[in-house]
Parts: sequence; structure tokens; C-alpha cells
Amino acid sequence: MNQPLPILMRGTGSYLPDEILDNSYFESLVDTSDEWIVTRTGIRERRRAAPDETTSTMGALAARRALEDAGMGVEQIDAIVCGTATGDHAFPATAAFIQSHLGAKNVMSYDVAGACAGFVLACSSAAGLLMMGMARNVLVVGAECLTRFSDPMDRTTTILFGDGAGAAVLSRTNLETDRGILFQELGTAGEKADLIRLPGGGSKMPYSEQTLAERGQYLHMKGREVFKFAVVKMSKLIDNALKKLEIVPDDLAMVIPHQSNLRIIESVRERLDLPWEKFAVNIDRYGNTSAASIPVALDEARRAGRLKEGDLALMVAIGAGLTWGTLVIRL
Ligand code: UT7
Repeated sequence: MNQPLPILMRGTGSYLPDEILDNSYFESLVDTSDEWIVTRTGIRERRRAAPDETTSTMGALAARRALEDAGMGVEQIDAIVCGTATGDHAFPATAAFIQSHLGAKNVMSYDVAGACAGFVLACSSAAGLLMMGMARNVLVVGAECLTRFSDPMDRTTTILFGDGAGAAVLSRTNLETDRGILFQELGTAGEKADLIRLPGGGSKMPYSEQTLAERGQYLHMKGREVFKFAVVKMSKLIDNALKKLEIVPDDLAMVIPHQSNLRIIESVRERLDLPWEKFAVNIDRYGNTSAASIPVALDEARRAGRLKEGDLALMVAIGAGLTWGTLVIRL
């Protein structure tokens, strides 16, 4: 196996808003059923942010928990990188608001727009800062408030998404160790950029009466096409990581896939011939939380004792862009 990048995950944290929306809520909104939602997606319920909560307030709460878990104060953080597609505003970066909520000073804070792959992309960006010597400790956040961008009239999307945030502290270490980041892969198929998008509010379709009439303020997705792409691509990404690291699936303590559809996760699991215990799954409880899904699942697995120091974890995500990312880390 390769020598890892000397980067340790010192702590993780997550935050989910209190309000639970179960599938019956959507039965009263659109022509759908609990049975359809469960069998086609695996989702039973999801969380919705309270009116006074935003992506940055949820991100900051997850970040505080990650700092606490790492035993670190905010003054030890040199950078904040936030993966989000549903930031507080089009600009400035949601990471800037997270910085302000945390009371951090003189910290570089920026967002990465990797949608569902946002957390993996943010970890890679943080790894770059750490390896370039621009930071010793980076707070990486994946936070989303997707319920505010889901069209309540569109049954093909509104049932899918939930709100939440997860965070991790990544630190450069000088210690001789076999822990650290062992593999990263990132990529984008920009020719498929129209498959998932939020058309309104950008330079192509600034807000206007027409934008609202076309429901441009909401997420639009060609779900079936994304599904087909994701099933094939996720398996390929994992195969590639295993091959590069010269390991077999059983060497992984846990696979933490982006939670967009339980059927996608199931097909990958079957292909790898791994038991469910080696998969982190939270889509049944939180729906698709985009950039938050992996760090929330990672945090839950660590806190439940399912992942511990020295374990090999593989994170893999595919989302709007279409953008993907894999990260393998020995914790
Ligand atoms: O996280 C970012 C990446 N996103 C993804 O990876 C999402 C990937 N895509 C998916 O998870 C699935 O494609 C969906 C869950 C979005 C849709 O499931 P599907 O099995 O691909 O359904 P479909 O789009 O092929 O639609 C099948 C039928 C259609 O009816 P007709 O045309 O066959 O009469 C839909 O109108 O199911 C209908 N349908 C629904 N019926 C009841 C779509 N949504 C619903 C619904 N309730 N909520």
C-alpha cells in the first residue's frame, strides 16, 4: 500500500435539525405514497431546518461538535472549507458565515461547489492546503438546506431531500504513522451538467417574474439518468481505489457512500460482496442531504464505535456536475 499523506482526521461532528418529515407528509402534498418512496429510494423520513436555521448555522453546530471531538479550540483552526450547494446566499461563501458564528479570526474560509460530492471535494482541498504548508488544521464542513430548494409541487424531487450538516477536523502530522489519506480521485462530466441544477438566481437566469413562473428557484433533476450513471460510476470508482491501493473489499472497515438512493448503495454493496455492516447508511432517516450525507454518516459511525482509529474508510460520492470524488483514509 502507498505511503499515506500525513493528514489525520482528529475529530468529527454532525447536526440534524429537530423537525422530522415522514413520508405521509408528502402524501398530503403530491401524488405519492409511503410504499413508492420506501421501495424506490429507501427514504422513510428526513429533517427540515427551523425557520431561523440556515446552512451556515447548521454547519457551525456540526463544526463545534467536530472541534470538541478533536479537543481543539477554534483558535487552532487555520482554514474552513465548506462543501455546499445551498449556501446562505449566492455570495459570500457560507464558510465565511460559519467562521463568524464560530468566532474564528483571520482564517481563510471558502466554499467548494461540488454538490453531493462537496464534502469529498472539500477534504481534498483541505489536504492541498495542509500539504502546501498553508494550514496545520482545517475545518471541513458539508452542510445543506435542501428543503428550501425542493419544489413542493414536484413529486420526483420533493420527497428526496433533507437538511443537515457534518464536519471534520483534518490536521497535518509530523509523526511517523501509517494513518492518513491514502487515495483521492476527483472528476466531472460537465457535458452532463444539465441533469441536476438549480437554474434560477445565476447569471444565466437572474431572478425575475419569469424565473419564478418557470419554478427556477427550485432544484431540477433528471433522476433516472443520474441514477443509471451513479450505479455504474460508483462501482468503477471503488474498483479503481481498490486496484490503486492493491487491496480487496474486505480490507475496508467501512464504505461511506453518498446517500442518494438505497438502491444505488445496494447495487454497489452486492458488487463488492460486502455485508451491510460495512456500509454506512442513513438515507432512511435523513433522505438525501447532498454534501452533508457523508460527514454525517462518518460521524455517526465513529460515535457508534463502528469506525475507530486505524480503520480504513472509503468515502465515495456522485452528484450535480456531474461531479464525483473518492477518498480513502486510514483514520
Ligand atoms: O444526490 C445527487 C444525485 N442524485 C441521485 O443520485 C438521484 C438518482 N436518481 C434516483 O434516485 C431515482 O431516479 C429517483 C428516486 C429520483 C426516481 O426513481 P426511479 O425509479 O428512477 O423513477 P422514474 O424517474 O423512472 O419514474 C418512474 C415512475 C414515473 O411514472 P411513469 O412515467 O412511469 O408513469 C414517475 O412519474 O414513478 C413516477 N414517480 C413517482 N410516483 C410516485 C416519480 N416520483 C414519484 C413519487 N411518487 N414521488
